[in-house]
Amino acid sequence: MPAVLTIATTPYYDQKPGTSGLRKRVPVFRQHNYLENFVQAIFDSIDAPAGATLALGGDGRYYNREAIQIILKMAAANGFGRVLVGAGGILSTPAASCVIRKYATFGGIILSASHNPGGPDGDFGIKYNTANGGPAPEKITESIFECSRQISQYRIIDAPDVALDSIAEHTIGKMAVSVIDPVADYADLMESLFDFSAIRALLAGGFRIKFDAMHAVNGPYAREIFINRLGAPEDSLMNCTPLPDFGNGHPDPNLTYARELVDILYGEHAPDFGAASDGDGDRNMILGRHFFVTPSDSLAILTANAKLVPGYRAGLAGVARSMPTSAAADRVAKELGIPCYETPTGWKFFGNLMDADKVTLCGEESFGTGSSHIREKDGLWAVLFWLNIIAARKQSVEAVTREHWAHFGRNVYSRHDYEAIPTEAANSVMKHLKDSFGSLPGQKLGSYTVDVCDDFSYTDPVDNSVSTGQGIRVIFTDGSRIVFRLSGTGTEGATLRVYLEAYDPDIANHHLDAQVALSELIVIAGQLSELKARTGREQPTVIT
Ligand code: G1P
Ligand code: ZN
Repeated sequence: MPAVLTIATTPYYDQKPGTSGLRKRVPVFRQHNYLENFVQAIFDSIDAPAGATLALGGDGRYYNREAIQIILKMAAANGFGRVLVGAGGILSTPAASCVIRKYATFGGIILSASHNPGGPDGDFGIKYNTANGGPAPEKITESIFECSRQISQYRIIDAPDVALDSIAEHTIGKMAVSVIDPVADYADLMESLFDFSAIRALLAGGFRIKFDAMHAVNGPYAREIFINRLGAPEDSLMNCTPLPDFGNGHPDPNLTYARELVDILYGEHAPDFGAASDGDGDRNMILGRHFFVTPSDSLAILTANAKLVPGYRAGLAGVARSMPTSAAADRVAKELGIPCYETPTGWKFFGNLMDADKVTLCGEESFGTGSSHIREKDGLWAVLFWLNIIAARKQSVEAVTREHWAHFGRNVYSRHDYEAIPTEAANSVMKHLKDSFGSLPGQKLGSYTVDVCDDFSYTDPVDNSVSTGQGIRVIFTDGSRIVFRLSGTGTEGATLRVYLEAYDPDIANHHLDAQVALSELIVIAGQLSELKARTGREQPTVIT
């Protein structure tokens, strides 16, 4: 039996999990004992019973394989009975959530920095998900951080690496390692929710799709679902071979980083439907021919059309959106007579609502949509949901969206990101905004009048936990909004996000480009925040 080693270590003081786990540059993770400390802090916090089962996998980015081997040996030394690990060390974030739930594991560790670039100098990340398949709540992430600050030793087994490339059973010490097919369970779950025969018929009838996996984890999942199970032609896929550095790309499915796909969908002879997903497969972008669907609209449209999808035909318990996400879904919920919840940014806040059966669908403006089928957002799920709607309605993406706006009005929406600005400059913008709260309400700014401004705080209706400081809202009397928030996932300086939303019921304006329709609010946001003067930035880094 290989030896269990107890290794002395000293804390790193920067292991605070952010919006979605701990994310740092690869060289930071490669520091002596850095990963080991954090993994031990997870194990010390979660208090798993001896013999418990853990799910493990990652998005295949640089350092994934090495990290998997270390975690397996540490899990064995910490008394786990079995680890289910995706072959090749791969599990997309939604597939990991699916595996945790399907096999009722105690929890899971997911290695990913989501949409952040990878490679030797790119980002790496690690997060812990609980038995419901969702990201650990703040109570646990705070305890992990505390443990990481006090750590003095970690446990690891002195054993050779496990062969991960084929599906097989292995052991490390007394612990079983089951190398599982990373795709099959997830693909089965998708097939149980959507009308695959209607989608197959749509594709056989000449409806052309293009799916861009951005060289990230969803490639094999897309191949199994679109090609093998739905019969789509091979040229429906692009960038579907996963690479550890994502082909030097930035695997974030939006109009800036998924430019290659956007150009195809806006070009001549464009396919009917385009979609992309991110590094770990939980984000999605939906495009029609020469048409882009904002994630906020997408959530509203999925909600309005859920009855067309077998898995949701019975109706929705409710819908939830993160605070900066537009209120388009609220209008649908109102008409359907179902509750709509507004939560802080980050998927972890949806978990309690889904566990308590208060919501079925949820989404964020940051290209995340999902449902209670798992406890993570789910990129391919959103793509299949759209294809199911199109197969049932026999309309284009654009026609479905325009009909939606005609009925509910349009919540024109855009997010402006200012990335990698000095932390002090970003903090000064936020402080300046907070300092002006008192004088803003009632002020007329151009054609808008300020109604309320606050720093969003949320009381979880299930466990009554309170999360404060979740973003500054300036809400105008007509329901239009500007939200200012600092990112919790960046790894360089601070990222300031400015979210802009204007409601327009008038169909005569629905053809307008969002930046044009929002131009007045954009100017107001600049004035209120003094962003240019305080950060020196003239333009956002990314507009979505
Ligand atoms: C960003 C998004 C947020 C999402 C998170 C994880 O977090 O804004 O909606 O849940 O990534 O994908 P942020 O960097 O804004 O804290
Ligand atoms: Zn992601």
